[in-house]
Amino acid sequence: MRSVSEICPYMAYGGDYNPEQWSEEVWLEDARLMQQAGVNLVSVGIFSWSVIELNENQFDFSWLDRIMNILHDHGIGVSLATATASTPAWFVQKYPDSVAVDRQGVPYSFGSRQHYSPCSPEYIQGVKRIVRQLADRYKDHPALKMWHINNEYACHMAECYSAHTEKAFRVWLQETYGTIDKLNEKWGTAFWSQRYNDFEEITLPRHTPTFTNPGQTLDYKRFMNDRFLYLYKIEKDILREVTPDVPVFTNFMYQFKPLNYWQWAKELDVVTWDSYPDPLEGTPSVSHTMWHDLMRSLKQGQPFLLMEQCTGQVNWMDVNVIKPPGVMRLQSYAAIAHGADGIMFFQWRQSRAGAEKFHGAMLPLSGGEESRIFKEVTQLGQELKNLDPVVGARTKASVAIVFDWENWWAVEQEGKPHQHQRYIQQVMLYYQAFYQRHIAVDFVRAQDDLSPYQIVVAPQLYMLKEGEAQNLEQFVSQGGTLIVTFFSAIVDENDRFHLTGYGGPLRDVLGLWVEEFDPYPVGAKNRLHYEDKQAWCYTWSDVIHLDGAKTLAAFGENWYKGYPAVTLNTYGQGQALYIGTEPDPSYIDELVGTVLEEKEIRAPLDVPPNVEVQERHTASDRFIFVLNYHQEAVHIRIPEGQPYTDLITQKVVKDHFPLQGWDVAVLQQRK
Ligand code: GAL
Repeated sequence: MRSVSEICPYMAYGGDYNPEQWSEEVWLEDARLMQQAGVNLVSVGIFSWSVIELNENQFDFSWLDRIMNILHDHGIGVSLATATASTPAWFVQKYPDSVAVDRQGVPYSFGSRQHYSPCSPEYIQGVKRIVRQLADRYKDHPALKMWHINNEYACHMAECYSAHTEKAFRVWLQETYGTIDKLNEKWGTAFWSQRYNDFEEITLPRHTPTFTNPGQTLDYKRFMNDRFLYLYKIEKDILREVTPDVPVFTNFMYQFKPLNYWQWAKELDVVTWDSYPDPLEGTPSVSHTMWHDLMRSLKQGQPFLLMEQCTGQVNWMDVNVIKPPGVMRLQSYAAIAHGADGIMFFQWRQSRAGAEKFHGAMLPLSGGEESRIFKEVTQLGQELKNLDPVVGARTKASVAIVFDWENWWAVEQEGKPHQHQRYIQQVMLYYQAFYQRHIAVDFVRAQDDLSPYQIVVAPQLYMLKEGEAQNLEQFVSQGGTLIVTFFSAIVDENDRFHLTGYGGPLRDVLGLWVEEFDPYPVGAKNRLHYEDKQAWCYTWSDVIHLDGAKTLAAFGENWYKGYPAVTLNTYGQGQALYIGTEPDPSYIDELVGTVLEEKEIRAPLDVPPNVEVQERHTASDRFIFVLNYHQEAVHIRIPEGQPYTDLITQKVVKDHFPLQGWDVAVLQQRK
């Protein structure tokens, strides 16, 4: 298999292209304008099943043949989709059982998209047929660069409750547990008279009077994830067999809870994802930046492709605020700064009709090639040609944050001490503290190799699986600094308590144990007392007993006033901090600052506020990205005497240089 950077040794640039919505004269115009805009890659055929297979086994490839040829003649590569994201009307009519069913037992209707059930045997048969046809037909086409499998798996329909799904769930459970006794034990079915005699008695966690069994719900989430991955692998296997050299992937989504992307990433040749920051969050969107870092980490630092973003405004929010001039460009560079090797959009040409006709595009309906947006698209496309040396460059991070999908599923299940807890928010709090200080962050799982890092943060690691406590202990004993936050190490992989008490598995490394939790009512807060200072804390207090650790901050109010809130324990060569509450971000910032100082981890450059700095490295070069999120120009100082080339302007800069409002510099330094 050839890697994406071998196949595209340049910054990929382009978008989803849906030529079937237009006539052939428009195709030629499209190809000309794509060249003008610097487009070198387009995703074709994502929702094209109904125009490729007109009826069962009746294929029409004529339009796709022509479009592949036109694109190739214009030097544009194709990321060819397998068209399986939506079954056609004839398919649904012929196989009414192939649609998904919602939790109330209502089948989905045709007329939108993604209505198929991931467990429908007819859907699987249809997928195998069309994927093989596409692969056989285009395997030697010179425009074919990569395969785009399906599209945003589970985006609208992540849970199916059809009869086929129930059957498949029972098989999955049997394979997972072997015996019904084991399942009964792992799900704790002695509670509420839930004991099963046989796998055939088990139903999907459907319409129940109150909380479902947590073990069952968790396994249902695992099962649905596995089921979608199984569909992906069916397609992948066919494509590998016919085109062993062509990379395959599907596109991931933002803060998408239903799919465990750690598991998925192993099956992708390149991680790609779709980023649609809410303009109201402002620029930079730290939550999307965090997602870039997570996406880069999924394949241990291998660069990702930004597969979709919007040029101007989407059409699926309540109010679709537009991006002002310069914002799309800055967001694109932010993605590259955090590890992207390509910038793509949804979509190339704005649709004339259909549910997304108001969605922004590279070539807008109004104004066409004279529009502001097309001019910005063209400017970026031409600039990115100068960034080819960055392709393949890696991020070097000394800090890692633990992010675990199964923990996300478990910690947000019903029946918890605090129902308003959001895992992502807890992760973001700590991510933000490093981001503000321009410190690169990788994401990991608690079972991963942590030796490349000096600092590991595990926010709200409620589910601690077998072997993870030992891995974290080893990291600390060998000199690492670990930061663990409240409501961690509570349950095992089946959402059953660890019998060693709250936080029990980490008692040695943290030097403490937690006896009780005190979740705060909405709006309530407490105080942290530390040194001679005070800070607010929110959401939750742990009632902590020390067993070797020392107190860094104590609670200021309530009956546990004076009890430890933030602690530090020395363990082997390293240190473990525990934060038994949600401190104000200013406190987290101070704490993170101290830890970074101790470890001598510094930002690549000192820059004014509202300017971001990130670094990427190849064996021969260092690239420093400087992004100005101010409207005003700022002055950037670089280490004296060392000349850098700004890849965008191709000018040499030394000592200091001005950076205009909303502008960016990509400084290359030979090693
Ligand atoms: C993505 C999807 C695209 C398009 C886009 C609109 O989620 O993959 O097909 O719908 O959103 O923003």
